[in-house]
Amino acid sequence: MSNYSAHEIKKYLNVSGVKLNLFETVTSTNTVLRKMAEDGAEEKTVVISQAQTSGRGRRGRSFYSPSDSGLYMSVLLRPDIKISDAILVTTCAAVAVCRAVESVCNKKAEIKWVNDIYLDGKKVCGILTEAAVNVESGKAKYIILGIGINLTKPKNDFPNEIKNIATTLFDNILDAENNKSRIAALILNNFFKEYCFLAEKRFFDEYKNRMFLIGKPIRVLSAEEYDAQVLGLDEDFSLIVKNEKGEIKKLNSGEVSTRAC
Ligand code: BTN
Repeated sequence: MSNYSAHEIKKYLNVSGVKLNLFETVTSTNTVLRKMAEDGAEEKTVVISQAQTSGRGRRGRSFYSPSDSGLYMSVLLRPDIKISDAILVTTCAAVAVCRAVESVCNKKAEIKWVNDIYLDGKKVCGILTEAAVNVESGKAKYIILGIGINLTKPKNDFPNEIKNIATTLFDNILDAENNKSRIAALILNNFFKEYCFLAEKRFFDEYKNRMFLIGKPIRVLSAEEYDAQVLGLDEDFSLIVKNEKGEIKKLNSGEVSTRAC
């Protein structure tokens, strides 16, 4: 029997003040939590669902979220930061997920800038950070950090579009179910350890060292599409690339995404 429950998650949690809300099925944990945030929910309110009917990814994509095969979790944050610094939340979460993943499997977790976690060259987790902004101050009113991890293969396998690019943390459903609560807690533990010092970016070097695109050719997908080579990561987490004309560009995660060539 699955040991996935709020009680079990709390056994592994070392962060105080986390308010867990577990559901069977929701449209999207980000959507449910956004409503709670608008209704005044406190920072560290967490929504987790066994399945999502309209899971969302970045750039308007959907996130396949069938029952019993993934961890779909959203975390409410109310940091005192400019909206332009919201990338710190995504990158901090990416490092937290990598550490949690490596605690439960013997593989190296890598980051595909800016929000994807890879194992053995395939995507195992995506992160979607959404925010409400105070227009006058330019600061975040609240931030919803959404994390989706493929724990095990869905009963009917992944859809064809992602079959060759997606991977899972575990080979079987039993391991997935037995570890789900622990992974949720480990992500929250790792995330909040760094979140207290978000502006200090203590996780910068680890994020950069886990990036597998540095030195590689990529295709930049933005208003204009072009081939480029990744040179490195700027201190504000922008990707530094060189295009085919030899021009150096800084890519901002909100405006572009990338594809390995
Ligand atoms: C991506 O791969 O582009 C990001 C995927 C983010 C998926 C998670 S699952 C929990 C939360 N709820 C959503 O609707 N999306 C995020």
